[in-house]
Amino acid sequence: MIDRAIPDGRRTVRVCGGSRWWRATTGRFVLASAAWLAVSMSFAPAVRAEGAEAIPRDTFGAADMDYQQRAFDKLIGSVKADAVPVGVDPVIWDAFVPADNEMTADRVALGRKLFFDKRLSKDGTVSCATCHDVTRGFTDQRATSEGIGGQIGRRNAPTTLNTVLLETLFLDGRSPSLDHQARLPIINAIEMGFPDGESAVKAIADDADYKAMFQKAYGRDVNYEDIGRAIGAFERTMVFLDSPFRRFVHGDDDAISAEAKEGWRLFNEKARCVSCHHMNLSNPLGTDNRFHNIGVSARHQDFEALARRGLKAMEEDPSEEKLEELALATDMSELGRFMVTKNRSDIGAFRTSILLNIGITAPYMHDGTIETLWDVMDHYNKGGEANLFLDGGMEALALTEEEIDRVVAFLFTLTDDRFAEDNQRQMEAQRAKAQKNRPFRDDELANRRKLAFEDRIAK
Ligand code: HEC
Ligand code: HEC
Repeated sequence: MIDRAIPDGRRTVRVCGGSRWWRATTGRFVLASAAWLAVSMSFAPAVRAEGAEAIPRDTFGAADMDYQQRAFDKLIGSVKADAVPVGVDPVIWDAFVPADNEMTADRVALGRKLFFDKRLSKDGTVSCATCHDVTRGFTDQRATSEGIGGQIGRRNAPTTLNTVLLETLFLDGRSPSLDHQARLPIINAIEMGFPDGESAVKAIADDADYKAMFQKAYGRDVNYEDIGRAIGAFERTMVFLDSPFRRFVHGDDDAISAEAKEGWRLFNEKARCVSCHHMNLSNPLGTDNRFHNIGVSARHQDFEALARRGLKAMEEDPSEEKLEELALATDMSELGRFMVTKNRSDIGAFRTSILLNIGITAPYMHDGTIETLWDVMDHYNKGGEANLFLDGGMEALALTEEEIDRVVAFLFTLTDDRFAEDNQRQMEAQRAKAQKNRPFRDDELANRRKLAFEDRIAK
């Protein structure tokens, strides 16, 4: 599957030119509008190949760890582990690398070994790559994740691709850096399950390879903080920005179809996506790095009562570990950013998602409740599900089905070329699924869907 999707070696297209990237305004790309006028309903497939070779998978459905490592080698090609990623200005890159964790080949090699090592879970069944699977867009492609002992969490595993460029980590932004974030799944009871960092260290400290590798990388024995740093260093190599859309923005007019170009125009105008999903030379990810309630979780919950419960739980135990548990294993998960800031305006708010590589990371949203990009569009077209904390930027859009198709065509051009085949396959699968399962659209209903939940909360 992934094998065939990966071209030999790494592309060397320089997509982000020097300091221009830094100086670029926060506004939209200014592109020749004439190009948008030509609308064609045909989407030329970039890749022809069909079918996937059998990938050896474990009981979690994750690809075998050795297989994943080989797939990773092919993705990365001959690029040096400590090289500045293609497409990122070297000066800017420095800002993403912590002062106490400079990129070295030894650190990246150590982080890589840890990332794929199931011994980092209490019962030896789960590694980071179980849920951030190289063959599945560095996600698990499940609605919500399964950790040790078959425990199912409340949140969808986001991709680790390009997360180095984010301002905060986790969907509620509760972690400030990759190095810090990487420590938390290890001690989360429903993910990798160690009671504390020390027990995780014990699980690998006797391994001669690790002993030598920690010394080489950090000049210290195996320790919890450096586990986080090494994994962080490895994740900083996962920069995948070389999409058809990027080539288009940099002047290759043939890189995307006319339909996708029209979708890009809609994205910036009628569909209003750009108001939250900032996409420009200084921010190529497609997120404003802010938190919004877009009416995904509303339907499940009485937010007011839930917020009171959340505050009480955090008063009783304000620790980082408790917040991990509340966020991943309880109803309080749906409160999102509120659990970090305790601001009422953050109730039900989650970080605006990265849109790069979106074609290969279904299902969507923090709870994985939306299966296809067509259904995501349907959600936005109806203004999101109403709730008292809905972001002011959400309103019904009145997009036609054709316009929805165009925005979706655009979204599928945001995937890195190295995943082109997977992207194509997912697009076809999603199209088939969306057409079958899409709820019947009635424009009156679409403007505002009333929920039982709203009556309860309005009293
Ligand atoms: C059991 C599945 C599971 C395992 C194991 C797991 N993760 Fe995750 N990962 C998730 C889920 C679910 C989230 C979202 C949690 C949240 O936002 O509260 C996440 C979030 C992340 C993020 C934040 C991404 C973003 O967009 O903010 C990173 C980075 C990450 N994981 C890396 C790792 C690393 C490194 C490991 C191993 C130490 C790991 N994960 C282990 C499921 C998992
Ligand atoms: C008011 C801000 C806002 C607007 C406007 C907005 N989004 Fe989002 N978008 C978000 C937030 C916040 C999330 C994450 C929500 C969650 O996880 O519950 C998100 C999630 C998504 C996702 C799912 C990503 C994933 O990995 O799960 C896609 C796709 C998406 N948006 C596309 C769009 C498109 C296309 C538009 C325009 C039609 C749009 N968004 C308009 C804020 C916004």
